Amino acid sequence: MVGAQALMALKPASGPIVAKTYNISSYHSIVEGKLSFDVWDLKADESNGTMRLFGSVKVPKGATSLNQVWQVGSSVNGTQPRIHAMTPDNKNSKSTLDLTDTEPRVAGGAIHGILNVVSWGIMFPVGIIIARYVRTFPSADPVWFYLHVSCQFSAYVIGVAGWGTGLKLGSESPSVVYSNHRNIGIALFCLATVQIFALLLRPKKDHKYRTYWNIYHHGVGYAILILGILNIFKGYDILKPGEKWKTAYIIVISILGGIAVFLEAITWIVVLRRRSNKSTKPYDGYNNGQSRQEPLAL
Ligand code: HEM
Ligand code: HEM
Repeated sequence: MVGAQALMALKPASGPIVAKTYNISSYHSIVEGKLSFDVWDLKADESNGTMRLFGSVKVPKGATSLNQVWQVGSSVNGTQPRIHAMTPDNKNSKSTLDLTDTEPRVAGGAIHGILNVVSWGIMFPVGIIIARYVRTFPSADPVWFYLHVSCQFSAYVIGVAGWGTGLKLGSESPSVVYSNHRNIGIALFCLATVQIFALLLRPKKDHKYRTYWNIYHHGVGYAILILGILNIFKGYDILKPGEKWKTAYIIVISILGGIAVFLEAITWIVVLRRRSNKSTKPYDGYNNGQSRQEPLAL
């Protein structure tokens, strides 16, 4: 169409597919040339009979919409386009691209990212650190328990809000699908919801089924930890908010990891010492040894 600023992918009879720009000013001679706006990173590829064209274009500042036409032709002359068909479908291939809703989307992505990083990326791991390490110290019983439950419950509330904003972002761009990020996100929501029911289903500490509850609760808890962190990195790759945000999170999670390794070592020292104390003490006849050994889990 005369006046069109065209980006084209052209497939010659032999040789690689090429990407070119044409400022179309006549129906008779179509000449490759610069467009009226800046274009960069222009490239084309082909797989399984589908040709794709990629490029970035500079839109004037403050532009709110873009008139867009597209076209497909059946033949080339070398790497020059030949005339395309003129069926009603060819003539109707036009639309207006609305540029005004990008700002809320970017803001929506940022809110979604922040909520999820705070919840799945920081609060759940901190809650797990509390359960695993603070529990070792008898004097922290039952404080560790209330800290663990309140930390995980708040993380859940924020995490579900973050998850909901994700679904909203996803539904606003039906043509863009990140199925891994989406599936891991949905799995996380299900696992965390099951985990919160731990509150209702928990057998008493000395109940014979408590071991099974512990296995389930630890298993689901660590699955949430790993999948949560994984999905955050997938989220960073989708939103691409800039390296510094990713680096900031890597620093935070490394510090938490460092704290966990340090506390793991301390816990082992405490536990081993307790064991050796117990084995050197004679049985005192009042079962005190046993009650000292088991003051921990609520
Ligand atoms: C989604 C939220 C939750 C997550 C991700 C989570 C995760 C974990 C993890 C990973 C552990 C094991 C720590 C270790 O290695 O020793 C743990 C322990 C524990 N959690 Fe949770 N938890 C959550 C919610 C809750 C809730 C709501 C309760 C309330 C009943 C609870 C009660 C406990 C208890 C009692 C233990 C110690 C179990 C034991 O005796 O070994 N957790 N939690
Ligand atoms: C564990 C934490 C996270 C969970 C559970 C989660 C969950 C989700 C879900 C369920 C969707 C909807 C996908 C769809 O329907 O197509 C989504 C989309 C999205 N997420 Fe996340 N997300 C997490 C972390 C992040 C982070 C940290 C970022 C950015 C730094 C991020 C960026 C995005 C973006 C940009 C979309 C929209 C994709 C689109 O345009 O379709 N996510 N997320």
